[in-house]
Amino acid sequence: MNGLGIDIGGSAVKGALVDTETGLLTSERIRLACPELPKPKDIAERVAKIAAKFAYRGVIGAGFPAVVRDGVAYSAANVHSSFINLDVANLLRESTACPVAVVNDADAAGIAEMRFGGGKGEQGMVLILTLGTGIGSSIFINGVLLPNTELGHLKIRGKDAEKRASAAVRDKKGYSWKVWSRRLQEVLTHLETIFTPDLIIIGGGISKQFDMFAPHLKTRAKIVPARFFNQAGIIGAACYAASANLGDLAAG
Ligand code: BGC
Repeated sequence: MNGLGIDIGGSAVKGALVDTETGLLTSERIRLACPELPKPKDIAERVAKIAAKFAYRGVIGAGFPAVVRDGVAYSAANVHSSFINLDVANLLRESTACPVAVVNDADAAGIAEMRFGGGKGEQGMVLILTLGTGIGSSIFINGVLLPNTELGHLKIRGKDAEKRASAAVRDKKGYSWKVWSRRLQEVLTHLETIFTPDLIIIGGGISKQFDMFAPHLKTRAKIVPARFFNQAGIIGAACYAASANLGDLAAG
């Protein structure tokens, strides 16, 4: 089944058609840059442009960078604060004239990695971290998603983890791999004092350069890059939409 997956981020909206049975993209990927802290109008316009470009008519799956429950956003770290308490599913339904299922962006990436990537068939606890503008997290226990974990906002020495070790922080400060890895290590060590994951998957665009930073990291759990790098969010969002109607968000 072909579905449209959209990944809404703090710096761009990306989308593609996805075969939700195989997890493969069946179209080109479109990326539309956003102004910093995008407002609802900025996001709605871009999602509508992507849906129109594919003349898409089915259910859209959209990953959104906030706590999301029943289509409503309850936080806004890298998007405009007017998103808080906004029905994002409704906003996007109005702009695209398609039904829209909205899920946290990192949970979407996790769904893709659990179904088709390094997490496939993994029992126990899998922790997925997406390193981009912020740090997103998703946790699966025996393949079942624990939604909206928001671990990028854990405080590390008084500051949000994502303000210390996201990919954007590395770009902005020009940190070397070694220096940035030390910051990421602090986050991972903190997470491993709270949780005991069996597998950690690192996603986001920076996971393409996993070999540059992984040798500097030490974790109890096995740590691997995301199979789909920064496309996981698009793929997982499309899969989420395909199963949302069934109310079945298990990853298996
Ligand atoms: C948001 C999360 C999101 C992450 C990655 C954080 O700032 O609070 O909801 O998953 O960024 O985009």
